[in-house]
Amino acid sequence: MATALITGGTSGIGAAFAEQLAARGYDLVLVARDPGRLASAAAALSSTRGVAVETISADLAERADAERVVARIEDPERPIDLLVNNAGSGVRAELTSSDTAAHDRGIAVMCTAVLLLGGAAGRTMRDRGTGAILNVSSLQSLFTTGSYAAMKAWVTSYSQSLSVELRGTGVTVTAVLPGWVTTPWHTGSGARASAIPGWLWIGPDVVARTALADLDRGRVISIPTGRYRAIGWFARHLPRSVIRWISGKISSRRSRPAQSTDPLTTLTTTEDS
Ligand SMILES: NC(=O)c1ccc[n+]([C@@H]2O[C@H](COP(=O)([O-])OP(=O)(O)OC[C@H]3O[C@@H](n4cnc5c(N)ncnc54)[C@H](OP(=O)(O)O)[C@@H]3O)[C@@H](O)[C@H]2O)c1
Repeated sequence: MATALITGGTSGIGAAFAEQLAARGYDLVLVARDPGRLASAAAALSSTRGVAVETISADLAERADAERVVARIEDPERPIDLLVNNAGSGVRAELTSSDTAAHDRGIAVMCTAVLLLGGAAGRTMRDRGTGAILNVSSLQSLFTTGSYAAMKAWVTSYSQSLSVELRGTGVTVTAVLPGWVTTPWHTGSGARASAIPGWLWIGPDVVARTALADLDRGRVISIPTGRYRAIGWFARHLPRSVIRWISGKISSRRSRPAQSTDPLTTLTTTEDS
């Protein structure tokens, strides 16, 4: 039986990956901070899907906790066949802020932990000649709208570099670039999230299904839904000066109350955004 390790596997996109991988017959290792949510997610998945679910309570912002997860990935007795680097959260801070705590934490969870876990998975899978790594980035990684976008740009670039380093080894790497996804992440942001037109929201199940299909095809970039693939195409092909101009317009709207239904507004908040 293959085993998948999913960071942030108790909620939103990570929970959708857990559900769909369990349906494929994967045993699971779920990593998150909240032990209660880990226990209930594990109980639900093992009872409905009949798979083995192990849990690791870890704060991936803490180096020692991330190293515990690395040790689990490197355990030769219990190989990990698929790593899903998914845990993350918004970064509500300006780049010019003198308080860098939010940036530090975001970098630790969404960059450093991804590097540590991705490296451990890459070398152990390479030694076995098989495996796959999925890194959940964001469509924001193609824009220049602040700290979160810059961190996710690192994830998108890192994933492609790792796929180059592992080319020909039997290990694939896929970066997932979702737009707006209906997850608990947005629950606390009520007013701003409600300004987003309904047709731009997609479900976490769509993100996971598209990503797993793209992983099966060996694709390095996965963007769920045609509408977001179109936005992604323009973001990658327009001159960067135009992207910076658009990003400037987006960022200037950040300070305003979220009342617009303009699609640009969909990229303005820091929730994923
Ligand atoms: N929702 C969107 O619109 C959207 C769009 C594009 C990309 N994304 C990306 O998708 C990923 C998942 O987002 P989501 O919307 O599914 O969020 P979510 O529903 O809030 O779930 C986040 C998950 O990550 C875990 N987590 C958060 N911080 C952690 C930490 N320091 N250490 C360990 N686990 C941690 C949470 O569990 P605990 O709280 O128990 O730790 C939870 O399981 C993120 O990387 C995000 O950047 C989201």
